[in-house]
Amino acid sequence: MFSKLSDDEFKKFAKLIHEMSGIFLKDSKSTLLSNRLRKRLIEKKIDSFDDYYRYLETSKDMDEITEMLNAVSTNETYFFRNIKHFDTLFDSIIPELISKRRLPVTIWSAGCSSGEEPYTLCMIAKEKGLLNKGLIKIDASDINTSVINEAKSGIYDEKRLRSTDKYYEDKYFKRTATGLFKLDQEIIDYVNFFKLNLITDKVDKKYDIILCRNVMIYFDRDDQKKVVAKFYESLNNDSYFFVGHSESLYFIDTRFEYKKVLDSPVYYKK
Ligand SMILES: C[S@@+](CC[C@H](N)C(=O)[O-])C[C@H]1O[C@@H](n2cnc3c(N)ncnc32)[C@H](O)[C@@H]1O
Repeated sequence: MFSKLSDDEFKKFAKLIHEMSGIFLKDSKSTLLSNRLRKRLIEKKIDSFDDYYRYLETSKDMDEITEMLNAVSTNETYFFRNIKHFDTLFDSIIPELISKRRLPVTIWSAGCSSGEEPYTLCMIAKEKGLLNKGLIKIDASDINTSVINEAKSGIYDEKRLRSTDKYYEDKYFKRTATGLFKLDQEIIDYVNFFKLNLITDKVDKKYDIILCRNVMIYFDRDDQKKVVAKFYESLNNDSYFFVGHSESLYFIDTRFEYKKVLDSPVYYKK
């Protein structure tokens, strides 16, 4: 058994995690952090948080740093989360971009967790006949390699389908022998997943639509500002940016223009 993280240890880990990922942990997250780090100590057969911290600092073992960040990030997500955004995209924004012949329409789900968000886009695009004609391209990234692997496996428990219509469930998922749901392989293959750290990595593509929903809530204001500026640069002109329904860029000085499109708040780059 390991003791709880001391205040000093918590501060050191919180600082390291913040520098590496932008994830900002309030003091109240000490128990959560010690529970999550404990798994790494067991895996690495290291006896104390202090030794683990020293190991991370001195070894510069990038694989272990990745595993540590995998253990501490919060990955809650589900299919068809905030359906209004998808209605706005498919009933207004995407048809408008297609009518301007901006083809293919390029979409990036940034902080995609285990893939439910890009796969929701992909299933709806399939329903609208956009996949076969190659009218849409979907990229999806996360800092956490373990959720990216989950996404690529396409296997989900029923909690993740809690907002999924029976129509989509029956058409795009097969029940496995263990009662899980396996997503249709065509949908899995269509989405291009990659690891990307929004704080430290460069983005070398331009998109027409970026979704970064329920990700920046874990960052402090300075990092939010930097990441929003990065998104702005990663969009073409006449393009759109979506944040989660409880998020806003209200306190961030940004060049985006705020718009309501079919009841969804969106950020527009002229
Ligand atoms: C709560 S999930 C959101 C998933 C999905 N976008 C949604 O709204 O349902 C937040 C995701 O952000 C990822 N994340 C956190 N910090 C990140 C960073 N610096 N770069 C990229 N992804 C990050 C986490 O690994 C996690 O999978």
